[in-house]
Amino acid sequence: MKSAAHRAHQGYILVGGLPLNNVHPDLARVLITPEQIQQRVKEMADQISRDFNQISRLYIVGILKGAFILLADLTRELSVPHTVDFMALSSYGKTTESGAVRILMDLREPVEGQHVLIVEDIIDTGHTLRYLYHILKGRQPTSLHTCVLVRKTRQNLEIPLDYLGFEIPDVWVVGYGLDYADRYRTLPYVAELKKEIYSQD
Ligand code: IMP
Ligand code: MG
Repeated sequence: MKSAAHRAHQGYILVGGLPLNNVHPDLARVLITPEQIQQRVKEMADQISRDFNQISRLYIVGILKGAFILLADLTRELSVPHTVDFMALSSYGKTTESGAVRILMDLREPVEGQHVLIVEDIIDTGHTLRYLYHILKGRQPTSLHTCVLVRKTRQNLEIPLDYLGFEIPDVWVVGYGLDYADRYRTLPYVAELKKEIYSQD
């Protein structure tokens, strides 16, 4: 287990539960405030801009639907030239140990010879990102990197995680692109959903 100081050095921030007024009644607590998100997204964008300042174009792949808000905020802070494209994936269910994932919508352009950055909302088991990473790696990009807003950290991911916003506890979170049954996506913060909301169906 890496120390908090080590994570801070790496740019990771561990966030405790923060009380916030006027939260949605279905939420247990706010984990990451809008201000913390905006600050961290700006830091990640600055880091990405520095890391890729030599290249002519960064090919950004956003994973629908969850990453669309992060993608919108992140890309508008980038100073490196970039294009944006999207993929949509669906997993066959959280309980499948195989981690089978299906491509619902693919990229419009080949990524061969491109500098590719995958932008995803959340890592839970890691199946989705791992699958996508290997698919895109097989298409022979010049480079392939990953950027994720939050990680419910536990498992070995087995692929590089280059830019991570926050580590969070293993609870169901919504907001800032993250949903439960397509709800709560546009809340400006990341919050824990009350257990009775997601255990009732
Ligand atoms: P993984 O394949 O287990 O890492 O799960 C990744 C996908 O599951 C994400 O792209 C989300 O769509 C979804 N997911 C996992 N945990 C959460 C959560 O707490 N809130 C919202 N979506 C989640
Ligand atoms: Mg997702």
